[in-house]
Formats: sequence, structure tokens, C-alpha cells
Amino acid sequence: MKFKEKQDKRPETAGGFFLYEPLSRKDFLKLSQLIQSHIGIRMPESKKIMLESRLHKRLRALSLKDFPSYCEYLFSDHGFDTELPYLFDVITTNKTDFFRESVHFEYLVEYILPGLLSVTQPRGRRLWFWSAGCSTGEEPYSLAMVLRDYSERVAGFEFGIHATDISTQVLDSARLAVYNQEKADPIPIGFKKKYLLRSKDRTKKLVRIAPEIRSLVQFSRLNLMEHNYATMSEMDVIFCRNVIIYFDRPIQEMLIRNFYRYLRVGGYLFLGHSETLCGISIPLVTVLPTVYRKTG
Ligand SMILES: C[S@@+](CC[C@H](N)C(=O)[O-])C[C@H]1O[C@@H](n2cnc3c(N)ncnc32)[C@H](O)[C@@H]1O
Repeated sequence: MKFKEKQDKRPETAGGFFLYEPLSRKDFLKLSQLIQSHIGIRMPESKKIMLESRLHKRLRALSLKDFPSYCEYLFSDHGFDTELPYLFDVITTNKTDFFRESVHFEYLVEYILPGLLSVTQPRGRRLWFWSAGCSTGEEPYSLAMVLRDYSERVAGFEFGIHATDISTQVLDSARLAVYNQEKADPIPIGFKKKYLLRSKDRTKKLVRIAPEIRSLVQFSRLNLMEHNYATMSEMDVIFCRNVIIYFDRPIQEMLIRNFYRYLRVGGYLFLGHSETLCGISIPLVTVLPTVYRKTG
């Protein structure tokens, strides 16, 4: 009997899993510098194992035998252009939830929207919201549900939502807007009834965000490390939650200053529960822990 010759050069365990030699310190430093300078994510040596295990996926996808071959490819002219987005996909942490830190949404509806509306209504201006680091879409769709509901109750309230992320992979799934049923658990029941579609095949236990909510969110790719956010105009409310926690203090400060530039006077910045402006001198006033208002 003839067996198909094995093409793959990678070492394999008895269980059929591929093994790679550990990432060398030299290659780790090259990669960590690249990651930190391009996307801002801090990569101390304590993250070496994590980086290694996340890169296994890329080595397998590219059929590369070891980390030195991966680095050689990545730092080549061709590899740099084509591989970088995939590297960003595997390196970013995309954990998110619908109505995460729900107090933010409650505060937005009860205090912020009426206040913003009283200023803009005489001129009938549309309010702009930005979910920066939107991951797979749960945050901007939570915003869209809340804002649409508000617009149905309050005459003259018009809004637009931008949602951006560096990872093309998460943006693709955000646009698709299909989630496991249990992911939708935190969505208030009234919104579930109005804004979720169930899969026709009930065994799949999937839900999809209804088109009237999907169409309210414009998704685009944006690296927050860029100096100018060309696609962004002035915002009334910016959500950038659980993103800067992965960055060093100087980069956090640079991003906060960028958000400040893109906020209208009187606009609001929402950060994640463990992110603060502590020590950054900027005219943003705390209105709730991790919620700030631009005053000047
Ligand atoms: C943990 S998720 C937070 C998602 C959501 N904001 C929330 O709080 O649930 C962080 C997101 O930030 C994105 N991200 C990380 N670095 C970024 C950068 N330099 N530019 C844009 N997005 C970035 C990641 O791809 C990831 O989807």
C-alpha cells in the first residue's frame, strides 16, 4: 500500500499536535518592539509564553516550521505588508459583552442624552457617538439599541455611530452581527424582543442583530496609534473601554489627548472600569467614575 508522502516539515507529537521550539529572546524582543510601536500593546517579557502560543496559529496557517522562519517572513518586505494584519488579529484581546458595565448605558440615557439634546436641539444637530476598540460589535450594538429606543421616545433626537477597531477579523464578525444565544443574555428583555433575530435552525442557538440596528453602526478599521484619525469628525460621546489598559502610560496619555481633540466641548469620554485619567492634566472633568466631560 502506498502512503502519501508527508510534506509538512514541522515536528509533530504522538497526538497529532505540532510542536515548535520556544521563541528565542532575540525574536521575542523584535516582535514585542514591533507590536508596541505599531499598535501600542505592551509586551513585557512576562508575556512571552502568551505571544508564543498565540503565534502558533500563524505558524500553522503559513506552514512554517519554526519561529525564526516566521520572523524572517514577517520582517521581509512582502511579509511586513501581508502578515501585519494577521499578527494584529492574533495579538489583540477581544473580550467584550453586550451592555458591559451597564451603569454606563443607564447614565448615558438618564443624564447625558437629555443634557446634550438641550444644547443641540435648537439647531437640530445630529449627535455623534464613537466606539473606539469596538471588538466584535457588542458595545456599538448596545449603544445603537439604547439610542434608537431613546430616539423613538424623544422627538428631534438624531444620532450616528462610528465603530472602529484595528483587527479586521473582529470587524468582519461585528458586521455579520451573529452571536451565540448566551452572549445575548445581558441584553435587556425588551431590546431582545425588538432587536434580535433567531436562527431559523433552532438547534444552532444563534441570534442576529436586526437590520434596523445593524444599519445604525458604521464599522471601519482604525489604528488608534495613528496620529490623525482621518475618518473621524468631532464626536459628542466616545466609548473607549478596556482598550488602553493594554498600553503603557505614555501611550495611554497620547490616546487620551487624541480623544480630547476629537471630542466637542461638552462631550463625554467613557473609559473601562480599571482605566483612569489619573495624573494626566487635561480639561476633562469626572462626572462618574471612568466617565469624563470635556469642559474647555
Ligand atoms: C478588550 S476589547 C474591548 C472591547 C469593548 N470596547 C469593550 O469594552 O467590551 C479591546 C479591543 O481594542 C482593540 N485594539 C487594541 N489595540 C488597538 C489599536 N491600536 N487600535 C485600535 N483598536 C485596538 C482590540 O482589537 C480589541 O478588539
